[in-house]
Amino acid sequence: MTHIPVLLDETIGALNPNPGENFIDGTFGWGGHSLAILGKTAPRGIVLGIEQDGESLAALPAAIKENPRLILENGNYADIAAIVRKHNFSNIAGVLFDLGMSSWHVDESGKGFSFSKNEPIRMKYDSSNPIDAAGIVNNYPAGELEKIFKTYGQEKFSKKIAIAIEKERCRRRIESTRQLVELIRGAVPPAQKMSAPARIFQALRIAVNREFENIKHGIVAGFEVLRPKGRMAVITFHSGEDKIVKDGFRVLVDSGRAELIFKKPIVCSLEEARRNSRARSAKLRAIEKK
Ligand SMILES: C[S@@+](CC[C@H](N)C(=O)[O-])C[C@H]1O[C@@H](n2cnc3c(N)ncnc32)[C@H](O)[C@@H]1O
Repeated sequence: MTHIPVLLDETIGALNPNPGENFIDGTFGWGGHSLAILGKTAPRGIVLGIEQDGESLAALPAAIKENPRLILENGNYADIAAIVRKHNFSNIAGVLFDLGMSSWHVDESGKGFSFSKNEPIRMKYDSSNPIDAAGIVNNYPAGELEKIFKTYGQEKFSKKIAIAIEKERCRRRIESTRQLVELIRGAVPPAQKMSAPARIFQALRIAVNREFENIKHGIVAGFEVLRPKGRMAVITFHSGEDKIVKDGFRVLVDSGRAELIFKKPIVCSLEEARRNSRARSAKLRAIEKK
């Protein structure tokens, strides 16, 4: 399998799928969560899987794509209302968002998501997106780059890195992940050289794909399509994402339209953390519509 699903049992516990129920997986990826849901909703439950990256969808094994109880849609989960209408999908018992990128993006996509490979810096899920990471790095003013690194990467040395990028691109365009990693490492103190590239790559990925805007819209739109007593579960991987989900759920709960399924977010077990390093930062939050 190309992607190991994170917090799988906990997510299934939160969504509580039963035979015959319909679910939406807003971030289909490699389908790990969807397949587990389909297992619980047999023999007639349908999963509508939304995936923004058409190349990731195309790379899926035929056995997944040909599942008769799975509808796959290449789109943005922020457009969930239109996607639900398009497929005439109804009686939705649950919506899942497992945020960010998949292991396929890091290991196989060749799109520059990994700072330990040497690839062109594109980092876009949606190939029709006019913006890519090279466009940002080579064209945005240093002040704007600093803001992106700070807001989406919580990088302490944002200004230094932005200035180093601005200086370098006067000499030559920054095209490859290796070039970018060297620039980042050259701009930070020795103790930060290993971790800073991860923070800057995360920040660029979020900016390119407008991930925070999508989460905000996705929570509101995903909640609207749920049936009464339907559930929404969201898995986040860093504090910026988690805060958006926490705040979005708070608004729904405070307006009396939803209840939290558990007060504190669920994190992974020691055993899962040992098996899958991606799971170490994961947090699961879930609500039920009244
Ligand atoms: C963490 S992976 C999901 C993994 C999946 N749960 C599994 O078990 O295989 C997130 C996926 O969501 C996709 N994605 C990210 N933002 C999206 C968006 N706004 N709309 C739809 N898909 C999105 C990414 O391309 C990626 O494939």
